[in-house]
Amino acid sequence: MNYHTCFLLLLGLFIPCSVVCLAMTARNLNSDQFVLLEFKDCIADPQNVLANNWSASTSVCNWIGVSCGIIHKRVIALNLTSMNLRGTIPPHLGNLSFLLSLDLSSNNLSGHLPKELGKLHRLRIIQLSYNRLNGEIPAWLGNLQRVQRLEMGNNNFTGTIPQALVNMSNLEILNLQFNQLSGQVPYSIFKISALKIVSLFSNSLSGSLPNDMCQHLPKLEGLYLSRNELSGNIPSSMGKCNNLQILALSYNQFTGIIPRSIGNLTRLEKLYLGLNNLEGQIPTPIFNISSLKTIFLSNNSLSSSLPNGLCYHCPMLEGLLLEHNELSGNIPSSMGECYQLQILNLAANKFSGLIPKSIFNSTMLQGIYLNDNSLEGNLPPITNAPKLENLLLWRNKLSGNIPNSISNVSMLKELDLSDNLFSGPIPTLGNLRLFNKWYYSCVGVLSLDSAKISMGLWR
Ligand SMILES: *[C@@H]1O[C@H](CO)[C@@H](O)[C@H](O)[C@H]1NC(C)=O
Ligand SMILES: *[C@@H]1O[C@H](CO)[C@@H](O)[C@H](O)[C@H]1NC(C)=O
Ligand SMILES: *[C@@H]1O[C@H](CO)[C@@H](O)[C@H](O)[C@H]1NC(C)=O
Ligand SMILES: *[C@@H]1O[C@H](CO)[C@@H](O)[C@H](O)[C@H]1NC(C)=O
Ligand SMILES: *[C@@H]1O[C@H](CO)[C@@H](O)[C@H](O)[C@H]1NC(C)=O
Ligand SMILES: *[C@@H]1O[C@H](CO)[C@@H](O)[C@H](O)[C@H]1NC(C)=O
Ligand SMILES: *[C@@H]1O[C@H](CO)[C@@H](O)[C@H](O)[C@H]1NC(C)=O
Ligand SMILES: *[C@@H]1O[C@H](CO)[C@@H](O)[C@H](O)[C@H]1NC(C)=O
Ligand SMILES: *[C@@H]1O[C@H](CO)[C@@H](O)[C@H](O)[C@H]1NC(C)=O
Ligand SMILES: *[C@@H]1O[C@H](CO)[C@@H](O)[C@H](O)[C@H]1NC(C)=O
Ligand SMILES: *[C@@H]1O[C@H](CO)[C@@H](O)[C@H](O)[C@H]1NC(C)=O
Repeated sequence: MNYHTCFLLLLGLFIPCSVVCLAMTARNLNSDQFVLLEFKDCIADPQNVLANNWSASTSVCNWIGVSCGIIHKRVIALNLTSMNLRGTIPPHLGNLSFLLSLDLSSNNLSGHLPKELGKLHRLRIIQLSYNRLNGEIPAWLGNLQRVQRLEMGNNNFTGTIPQALVNMSNLEILNLQFNQLSGQVPYSIFKISALKIVSLFSNSLSGSLPNDMCQHLPKLEGLYLSRNELSGNIPSSMGKCNNLQILALSYNQFTGIIPRSIGNLTRLEKLYLGLNNLEGQIPTPIFNISSLKTIFLSNNSLSSSLPNGLCYHCPMLEGLLLEHNELSGNIPSSMGECYQLQILNLAANKFSGLIPKSIFNSTMLQGIYLNDNSLEGNLPPITNAPKLENLLLWRNKLSGNIPNSISNVSMLKELDLSDNLFSGPIPTLGNLRLFNKWYYSCVGVLSLDSAKISMGLWR
């Protein structure tokens, strides 16, 4: 045995022993502290939040972002949201075996989720939104059957949504919005009957939704699937999700009709189905849902008329956005009863008849878009419209004088009355402060989008 082999032998005996012994001591003294100190060493903490606070001389239970159980003094919650942490999530966290809640949201964490987190069987909350995490949504999440909130939105996850998530049978909130997920949404996800919120908004998901999906989702309150590549029909069972408040399916490729059963959703506040390929009539029961605040059906091929009593039944309406369809008939005479209305967009349809006298009744009005229809008669006086910024009436058959009251609309930014049959004098517009576009006799370039997007009504 020469010196070299002897040394290796000694090394072989000594190093594993010392590591095991040290680890054992640490574990015996306080394994959670050991884990968190490892975590601290692995993560960049440019604001020194952890560096200044997570000191081995104080109990972990007094550390910032750490909560312990009352009796056993083990770490049960880690909340390090918005601390500007960087780097990858270290596998050591998988050793916090009593953890119930993990919140690392709104940091700058990148890389994959370590599979060691799959050992945290007690977890109920996983909140990792607003980071730069990437890789696939791991299938081992399915093993964490007590999780109620899985929030990993606004990251950079790719690949498909794993089937295994169906095993998270207590899941109430599934938030994977603003990632780069693709492929079919597994039908099995829609069998998790505890679900209240599903947000897959803004990914590249394709395929269709199961027709019976709402048979299994009695608690669903929010379904956010807008801005994907989903196709097929809107499930006819939708009316069975009778706790639904927000249904957002816009910016997809849904075809067919709007199911009549949506009219059974008596708690619905926001219906976003715009920018699809829907056709047929808007089922009239929808206009009987008194809780509705926003109806966004723009850019489809819908053809029907609006019920005259619309605003008697939907008095809470804030946004009625129906542009670019084939809707016809009169503008509902009850319009003035929508006293919270902010945006009325019926542009590029086939509406005819008179503009109802009460149309300016809501003092909340910010935009009225009736351009590109077949409206006739006078423009009613604008009694009180303190917030009205956009009034677009071009390409209709409106006639008579332009009402003088228009000079009192002090916030007006964009007024387009071109391509009509107006006559008489142009009112003084001296009072209008922010006014920057005045289209009277020419067809101007319109900037509709900025106004609509700033309203936050595009979902
Ligand atoms: C760490 O932060 C917690 C919570 O902000 C505070 O109560 C504690 O005193 C701090 N400990 C040290 C050593 O700074
Ligand atoms: C984490 O703390 C923030 C406030 O600091 C709080 O808003 C958030 O709800 C907490 N996260 C969890 C999962 O409780
Ligand atoms: C914690 O986990 C890491 C990686 O999963 C492991 O190597 C280490 O031995 C564990 N430490 C403790 C104190 O449990
Ligand atoms: C996240 O990190 C990147 C790269 O280091 C940096 O450019 C970016 O400003 C950081 N974002 C935040 C919110 O700190
Ligand atoms: C997400 O990933 C894509 C492609 O891998 C990359 O180009 C992009 O910068 C990433 N975004 C973030 C916020 O990390
Ligand atoms: C769900 O869990 C069961 C056992 O609990 C297992 O047999 C099954 O493979 C799991 N399903 C998925 C999709 O992972
Ligand atoms: C609406 O609900 C009622 C009562 O639950 C039911 O009879 C009716 O069939 C439903 N309508 C549709 C279109 O699903
Ligand atoms: C709407 O409700 C009114 C009164 O509540 C009722 O008379 C009418 O039949 C309903 N219309 C539809 C289409 O459900
Ligand atoms: C709606 O359709 C019109 C006409 O095809 C198009 O000009 C417009 O850009 C579409 N709107 C959006 C938000 O894509
Ligand atoms: C105008 O709105 C008020 C509520 O602000 C309402 O009481 C009134 O009936 C409405 N008038 C018309 C003509 O619709
Ligand atoms: C403008 O408003 C003032 C104050 O409310 C009112 O007296 C005046 O008649 C209005 N002018 C027009 C043209 O409606």
